[in-house]
Amino acid sequence: MTGRLTGKSALITGSARGIGRAFAEAYVREGATVAIADIDFARASDTALEIGPRAYPVHLDVTDQSSIDAAIGAVEERAGGLDILINNAALFDLAPIVEISRASYDRLFSINVSGTLFMLQAAAKSMIARGQGGKIINMASQAGRRGEALVAVYCATKAAIISLTQSAGLDLIKHGINVNAIAPGVVDGEHWDGVDALFAKHENLPRGEKKRLVGEAVPFGRMGRAEDLTGMAIFLASPEADYIVAQTYNVDGGNWMS
Ligand SMILES: NC(=O)c1ccc[n+]([C@@H]2O[C@H](COP(=O)([O-])OP(=O)(O)OC[C@H]3O[C@@H](n4cnc5c(N)ncnc54)[C@H](O)[C@@H]3O)[C@@H](O)[C@H]2O)c1
Repeated sequence: MTGRLTGKSALITGSARGIGRAFAEAYVREGATVAIADIDFARASDTALEIGPRAYPVHLDVTDQSSIDAAIGAVEERAGGLDILINNAALFDLAPIVEISRASYDRLFSINVSGTLFMLQAAAKSMIARGQGGKIINMASQAGRRGEALVAVYCATKAAIISLTQSAGLDLIKHGINVNAIAPGVVDGEHWDGVDALFAKHENLPRGEKKRLVGEAVPFGRMGRAEDLTGMAIFLASPEADYIVAQTYNVDGGNWMS
């Protein structure tokens, strides 16, 4: 059986765990070869082994240009070029406005925004040089659609992703490169365990309560699962999405409409 991504080469940032890992599993099932590119190389190696021979680990720190260039080089060498990039690596933090630290702001913008832009740039250069177009998918969030009292910096980084997706999408389509984004809502997993702990501290809630509340509030009736996002990630990387340019799609159980 041929998959929808047979023969394609993908790099997914932050795919050692969570949503990125689910994307990697789905892409391999659809026939792609996937670089599990993560700052946690040990976990990326385990994840790649667990997924199978068409997944391979690559060390990547999206805040470091030489690491970005090396990762793209590794994919070119291993797979003959890059067809699909998912900019998935990101960090979350939470603080009232009067307590936001410059360190937290710099770190979140450096990973979530600069990391996405300069990965996208390096991938685009590689795709343009190869002359076969490509697909770039950025991970936005419902947090980029609307501010939240305790989540100013993360929300701003995700709003920036929506804007970068628009500009890059418009600039790169002349090279046959589609840039689009996915905006998830609340997706259960290790990431949200950490988010829940931060809300517990700042809103004086018992552990697990924030998760329960956000899950209950989703029109679909529960928090998302990483697997809920894979259909959109496969679609946006496939030829069926060739005419889709600079868009951000909500995959959030109905939380946001736009
Ligand atoms: N989980 C959610 O509820 C949710 C909701 C909306 C959007 N998102 C977005 O989806 C994406 C994936 O989220 P997740 O929940 O799977 O996150 P996660 O925290 O589980 O995974 C993030 C991965 O990124 C890696 N990483 C961190 N810094 C890095 C760096 N400098 N260079 C390379 N890799 C790095 C981590 O090691 C980790 O493997 C993120 O962009 C996130 O903002 C998540």
